[in-house]
Amino acid sequence: MSVANHHLTSSTPLSSSSSSFFSHSKLISSRAQIVAVKVKNGGVCKCVATSPAEQIAHTTKVSRNPNMGKLQAGYLFPEVARRRAAHLAKYPDAKVISLGIGDTTEPIPEIISSAMAKRAHGLSTLEGYSGYGAEQGLGIEDGDIFVSDGAKCDIARLQMLFGSDVTMAVQDPSYPAYVDSSVIMGQTGLYEKDSEKFGKIEYMKCMPENGFFPDLSAVGKTDIIFFCSPNNPTGASATREQLTKLVQFAKDNGSIIIYDSAYAMYISDDSPRSIYEIPGAKEVAIETASFSKYAGFTGVRLGWTVVPKELLYSDGFPVAKDFNRIVSTCFNGASNISQAGGLACLSPEGLEAMKQVIGFYKENTNIIVETFKSLGFKVYGGSNAPYVWVHFPGRSSWDVFSEILEKTHVVTTPGSGFGPGGEGFVRVSAFGHRENVLEACRRFKELYK
Ligand SMILES: Cc1ncc(COP(=O)(O)O)c(C=O)c1O
Repeated sequence: MSVANHHLTSSTPLSSSSSSFFSHSKLISSRAQIVAVKVKNGGVCKCVATSPAEQIAHTTKVSRNPNMGKLQAGYLFPEVARRRAAHLAKYPDAKVISLGIGDTTEPIPEIISSAMAKRAHGLSTLEGYSGYGAEQGLGIEDGDIFVSDGAKCDIARLQMLFGSDVTMAVQDPSYPAYVDSSVIMGQTGLYEKDSEKFGKIEYMKCMPENGFFPDLSAVGKTDIIFFCSPNNPTGASATREQLTKLVQFAKDNGSIIIYDSAYAMYISDDSPRSIYEIPGAKEVAIETASFSKYAGFTGVRLGWTVVPKELLYSDGFPVAKDFNRIVSTCFNGASNISQAGGLACLSPEGLEAMKQVIGFYKENTNIIVETFKSLGFKVYGGSNAPYVWVHFPGRSSWDVFSEILEKTHVVTTPGSGFGPGGEGFVRVSAFGHRENVLEACRRFKELYK
């Protein structure tokens, strides 16, 4: 089966509302070859390959967005998931452990889920019912904060805000959504095979040699600078001094920083948890974050983006006013149920519960760090982030990913998927049940002893 011909369908139990989806998937299966593999939560994931002859029965007259054609291979995490599914098809009895995609595994604390349940039940009463909310969110009055359905969705909306004519810089390696959304918007040139970079993007190399902070004197001027701290995938967090330099750099160049603090609550030392701890940052920075990795909200979906009123375009127009327009046009507000969960997260008990969840993942991180260190690997990250960045000098990341998967049945993420600067590294996520993390580490020890 070729990758391009796959449709992924799920046959986990379907509600009556999904009956049209169900009949559609039956339709596909009547003329297609299906490989079924077990996936997390007991469902079955089917890779369906349609035969090439059947695919061109009809084409529309709509041409493909050429920017979509520039993207490479597919978004990293679906590609990792595809390889995991193929591995399961090859070894149906293997106990595959996923320390790859970075999805949370521990249950949402009761104090938070019960607030959402109460809100959900309230929706069935006349008094408790509400429909569309304010785009900026419920219960939060500060006009600088836009409540959303998550940081990734806001990254896409921010790209739409700035349009296709801006130039952008990104840490290399970095969370793939920045580069891919930039490509889709048409901000970039083509993918250059030799350098493994897209034209017109400024890649800011973040390596052990520079303490994972770019040499700003070698970075060209761009309109937008994406910066993530603590960083996914390297796990590095920028210091106050480094962020002060970054803010000054943006000011000197007239750039806007989009600061992604999705992992800020994992910081254990005195690294800033927000770019706004740096004086002057409000004039040059937007910040986005979410409850995804703090309270297990990867499925619930709740985040926020701060666009300070001090942040102005070259003509003096406030960026926040345009972002408000984008959000009002492309989004109808975060679910009122998840917002009830968000308010519970911010209560004293909710904050304590989130700290415990984070503490649990940080213990996992320590176990992974110690394992790789004991095997003689150079290991980075881990102390301020739920990611461990393991160096395999001179080796291809995808080869190491495949070696680990083939020999230990553990899914990791190849560093090169985060940009050319990630080549030779593998990211190991600390999101996992304790017994799975311990078992994965036992298998790593067996493989690399
Ligand atoms: C750096 C970074 N930013 C944003 C996100 C997206 O998070 P959300 O679930 O809030 O969309 C992730 C998720 O893995 C991430 O690693």
